[in-house]
Amino acid sequence: MTTVPGSGLFITFEGIDGAGKSSHIENVAAALAASGREVVQTREPGGTPLAEALRILVLERPMDPLTEALLVFAARRDHLAQTIRPALARGAAVLCDRFTDSTFAYQGYGRGFDRAILTQLELWVQQELRPDLTLWFDVPPAEAARRLQAARRPDRFEREDEAFFSRVAAGYAARAQAEPDRIVRIDASVDLPSVAQQVRSTFESRGWL
Ligand code: TYD
Repeated sequence: MTTVPGSGLFITFEGIDGAGKSSHIENVAAALAASGREVVQTREPGGTPLAEALRILVLERPMDPLTEALLVFAARRDHLAQTIRPALARGAAVLCDRFTDSTFAYQGYGRGFDRAILTQLELWVQQELRPDLTLWFDVPPAEAARRLQAARRPDRFEREDEAFFSRVAAGYAARAQAEPDRIVRIDASVDLPSVAQQVRSTFESRGWL
């Protein structure tokens, strides 16, 4: 195992609700662990007791967009301090189901909240820390909506209409275009093994698997 301080990998997984990233995160975790790395699997909003408590509020309680943005960044601050930064310092691979790209896509593009304020909050909360790699699971909003119909009781975001998710998807596309080295687009509209193959080759091409 490589435990050189600071040699950790911070990898985030993004996409609209219904894009189907969960099983792929599990696969990546298993593959990285098998290669001898410590793997920390976590999610946002959440990942610590305080952040999980904030998650319930964000997903269930009505609130204005600034409150929503402040709560996801408050949860993120605690998550970074308690979980993510210590794990990266140990040399672990941190696999995070959603991170700040979700805030830009959902609060910024989806809700139309001021992205300059989000950029400021990002700087306050994270300083220099950004993911080493972000996998963006891209699926057409209509297909994601079909997949979500089978899901359990929808939360505040999952109840949004297709137009909202089209804006969120456009947000991810804009960010991927602006940061092509960090954000890798995975075509998540194809069958499961083909999506898994794209994910695997993304890691192989970086020498991480
Ligand atoms: P998600 O992670 O998809 O969990 P589940 O699969 O259990 O529904 O749900 C979290 C929701 O929170 C998702 O709809 C996106 C939203 N979200 C934001 O709006 N902003 C954020 O910054 C984050 C991290 C998530």
